[in-house]
Amino acid sequence: MEELFTPVRLGALELRNRFVMSAMTRSRAGAGDTPTDLHVEYYRQRAGAGLIVTEGLQPSPAGKGYCRTPGIYSPGQVDGWRKVAQAVHAEGGLIVAQLMHCGRVASRINKDDDSEIVAPSAIRCNAKIFTDTMGLIDMDEPRALSTEEIPLVIGEFRQAALNAREAGMDGVELHCSSGYLPMQFLSSNTNRRADRYGGSAENRIRFVIEVLQAMGEAIGHDRVGLRVCPGFEYNDIHDENPAETYGLLFDEASKLGLAYLHLVRRTFPKVDNYLLAKQHWVGNFILNNELTGEMAAEAVRSGSADAVSFGRPFIGNPDLVERLRRGIPLSGYDAARTYTPGPAGFIDYPAATWSLK
Ligand SMILES: Cc1cc2nc3c(=O)[nH]c(=O)nc-3n(C[C@H](O)[C@H](O)[C@H](O)COP(=O)(O)O)c2cc1C
Repeated sequence: MEELFTPVRLGALELRNRFVMSAMTRSRAGAGDTPTDLHVEYYRQRAGAGLIVTEGLQPSPAGKGYCRTPGIYSPGQVDGWRKVAQAVHAEGGLIVAQLMHCGRVASRINKDDDSEIVAPSAIRCNAKIFTDTMGLIDMDEPRALSTEEIPLVIGEFRQAALNAREAGMDGVELHCSSGYLPMQFLSSNTNRRADRYGGSAENRIRFVIEVLQAMGEAIGHDRVGLRVCPGFEYNDIHDENPAETYGLLFDEASKLGLAYLHLVRRTFPKVDNYLLAKQHWVGNFILNNELTGEMAAEAVRSGSADAVSFGRPFIGNPDLVERLRRGIPLSGYDAARTYTPGPAGFIDYPAATWSLK
């Protein structure tokens, strides 16, 4: 498994090992959607990863869909993320901010009173969402963005990328999966626009490409990553031809010189998204989804991936990298406390290696 413990360069990011902690929403933001001391400790404990991708952060109030998710648009939020970045860097790790704009995947109850729900088209997400006050409820119908407003939303991503750097983070990752705003532009059931952002695959990928370009021009394309899961239908999203849409997206995004593509590997009836990415993506590649240490090592050994990411194993194993290095069995985690406020189920999983030091 030694190949996982060798350094690798992904654009401007120089990882000391091949382990990436993938983004996980944990719904523990404090007042003003700021990260708290709990976040500092949570990410510090997991800084053995070569690279940490933060939980999804909204680039603007409109980007918030779920309850208690942190943002990266206010001075208080930037100050909070600075403490997190400093803690991770002090442990020798790197950290990028995942920018997650939920678009239509939202309830008004989870948002500030004056913030809107916006999307490519005014089509309600036919799914339920959790709220603190009413439990699981139907999502609200979004308002369709006008053509003139789209550059403003792109500008929010650009500013969020600048804010991430201002906070001392090493870069950003665009969350372009799981039915959120970027994927809503890509997909045929959520994007019914008649302007240059809708219709053909060329038009549906335009928003994502322009967001990547804007963020790259602001902080360097080699500090921008892209996360996708072509074919995924989570949050009532559906594309008639994901192979065409994402094939084109990968072709065009490959030209930008991004830090990496981060793929949640899945095979769907319409697309084997790993094969599609391999056919169209040119650049650094992070592989995710249900990996074991052995599978991860084989992916790096064979050259299938430059780095490998783990999500759930990092929840209960803050020292996941050391455990895999030493062959220490992995712990599970308390699923009931995944999204609950407070320290329990967040920063109270012990590191096995503490007893070995
Ligand atoms: C609690 C939880 C929250 C998640 N939140 C996000 C998120 O905010 N952004 C994202 O891109 N993926 C998110 N994911 C997906 C993970 O990053 C990862 O792709 C998934 O867990 C599969 O990897 P694994 O098998 O190693 O856990 C989340 C997963 C979990 C379990």
